[in-house]
Amino acid sequence: MEDLKKIIRDIPDFPKKGIIFKDITTLLADPKSFNRMIDLIAHRYIGAKIDQIVGVEARGFLLGAALAYKLGTGITLVRKPGKLPYKTLQKTYQLEYGADTLEIHQDAFKPGDRVVVADDLLATGGTMAAVVELIQELGAEVVECAFMAELEFLEGRKRLPQEKVFSLLKF
Ligand code: PRP
Repeated sequence: MEDLKKIIRDIPDFPKKGIIFKDITTLLADPKSFNRMIDLIAHRYIGAKIDQIVGVEARGFLLGAALAYKLGTGITLVRKPGKLPYKTLQKTYQLEYGADTLEIHQDAFKPGDRVVVADDLLATGGTMAAVVELIQELGAEVVECAFMAELEFLEGRKRLPQEKVFSLLKF
């Protein structure tokens, strides 16, 4: 896993001073690394009877779509406000650099659907906690929250005490 970690580059002072941003675009752009990352995560859910992947805007769509393709499921989008065309359920939450709101279509799931939620990064956990609430309010079951990478020092897992959380690369 160290080789995959090394290909993620650090960008100092982005998006603001004092933050070292983990730039995953280098991992996404490298064919072998991208394939391996997707295979390693998808492998966890083969045979797990997953009905739907949920991808979190924007970078979560990349992992989410690849997982859905591998597992033969569909993908449901959790988006920033005003982007989804049908009736939505909304949740406002705190994130690493401010507050934000996310939305999901109200008719996204059948009752009891088993879903895996995909995002690129677990930082403070605020985003994923909001996404889990949206999914559960719509009557689906979150089997696991899956991330490409996790910033362990931000202790995002504490915001997800009831959930199974998997991250491939830990920093
Ligand atoms: C980033 C990242 C996660 C979230 C993690 O999203 O993609 O969704 O922050 O932070 P948290 O654990 O502290 O909530 P961002 O809002 O920057 O969106 P983007 O993927 O559209 O760039």
